[in-house]
Amino acid sequence: MPTLSYITNDAAKRLTKQGKITIHFPHDFIQGIMAGWHEFLREPEQYKQQWTFAPATNGSKEDGYFLRDGTPRGKSAVRDDFKEILHFREHLPLLLRQRGVSSSTSYHEWLANMEELRVQCARTAHAIAVGLDRLHGFNFAEQLRQAEDISFIRLISYDLFRSRNAGRTIIGKGHTDGGYLTLHIWDEYPGLFIGMGQDRMLYRGMPNTALAFCGDQAERATAEVCKTLYHQVSDERTLMPQDAATRDAIIYFADLF
Ligand SMILES: [Fe+2]
Repeated sequence: MPTLSYITNDAAKRLTKQGKITIHFPHDFIQGIMAGWHEFLREPEQYKQQWTFAPATNGSKEDGYFLRDGTPRGKSAVRDDFKEILHFREHLPLLLRQRGVSSSTSYHEWLANMEELRVQCARTAHAIAVGLDRLHGFNFAEQLRQAEDISFIRLISYDLFRSRNAGRTIIGKGHTDGGYLTLHIWDEYPGLFIGMGQDRMLYRGMPNTALAFCGDQAERATAEVCKTLYHQVSDERTLMPQDAATRDAIIYFADLF
């Protein structure tokens, strides 16, 4: 398969050297996932909140749906523009069933599509880990396998009009990601700026590709052999009222802990 065959020692080498790689990544499920996401976003807020699972304990993760209303959330948080987010881990359908959240048939398909995408992402992250381990003697593949249930897909929908009306553009704070590896799978419109200073550039994702880069956990675990990639989301389109009011993206965060 192209995804796995592409992730060779050479790709791992380029990832450590350049801090990022573009990989082949089939976008088969994207359309269905975005259709389901848009349908979900149109649900009443009360229903959407039934899909919200706040961290149960200190150190556990948030699952499901979250509305960020522009309130900054602590010093490490990327500045919060108006956006809606869904975090998908394998256990989300189970959490919904346990809570007794009724969902239409189309959401069953939507969740199944997200699970397919999650597996595809986990395999890709694993393949990159194998390449890095082979090259440098790290232990990422095994650590990732043990932590697979904490890695997650994020669907994100920035609300451009609400942000504009609050006197903001969609400009996130520049940052590095905290996990092991990020797969920037798809965005509706280019807006991801990567690198700093003279190296700063707008990433333009082509169909059936993803951008892979390392986060803080990888940098720390490898004494900076794997370097994080500084990035920032900025979307300064001039929008007409009839234009789409959101900026959508799909990202996968592979975390070791
Ligand atoms: Fe990020």
